[in-house]
Amino acid sequence: MSQDNLYQSRWVGAGYDALSWMVFAPLGGLRRLRQEALDAIEIRPGARVLELGCGTGGFTRLLAARGAQLTSVDRSPHVLARARRRAPGATFVESELTAYRPQGSYDVVWVAFVLHELDPAARQAVLTMARSALVPGGTLVIVEHALPAGGLVPRAMSRFVHAFEPASIVDWLRGGFTGELAQAGLTVTSRRPLARGTAVVISGASG
Ligand SMILES: C[S@@+](CC[C@H](N)C(=O)[O-])C[C@H]1O[C@@H](n2cnc3c(N)ncnc32)[C@H](O)[C@@H]1O
Repeated sequence: MSQDNLYQSRWVGAGYDALSWMVFAPLGGLRRLRQEALDAIEIRPGARVLELGCGTGGFTRLLAARGAQLTSVDRSPHVLARARRRAPGATFVESELTAYRPQGSYDVVWVAFVLHELDPAARQAVLTMARSALVPGGTLVIVEHALPAGGLVPRAMSRFVHAFEPASIVDWLRGGFTGELAQAGLTVTSRRPLARGTAVVISGASG
């Protein structure tokens, strides 16, 4: 089943939550990964946050708990149904990311575990759209898979995850999208490892 079809399955919400919980359980846990990603970024109460590819709302709920005013976008109605239950105060938009046009300006654009699923043209379009949605001085946050430098468990989990990911993940792991970020007018300002090096949170600023 292709990645696109997978997200249109009615079971995808529960399946995604169970699998991601299982993958990160031996690496400190998904909850900790998410909290540490949030701790790496300053989210002040009332911050306007645009979340691209919100999935089942794992980050949406935590961002809302920190006082963010959220607009969360995803193309899959099945994951959105779950996300709506988790973060009832957020505004949800069902849309393909490459077709989405932000209605306002945002302090933070949050993209977690999404870019590696997009082909190069879509990635560039989404990064350019994300950049255009930021207020001056705003922050783009990318949470993504990473290759751990060492450790048997992290390496084994990393291999397991990457076996199921689309081929586009190789671009991410090899190049880190540095060229694409620069082309979109974004500069990486910080990078912090998560989940024993199997994930990373990156922040970028325009300019
Ligand atoms: C791996 S999940 C990550 C979900 C969430 N950000 C998280 O960290 O739990 C990727 C999400 O991105 C969405 N997605 C992927 N490609 C997309 C596209 N081109 N347009 C809109 N949504 C997309 C999928 O539907 C899915 O919900």
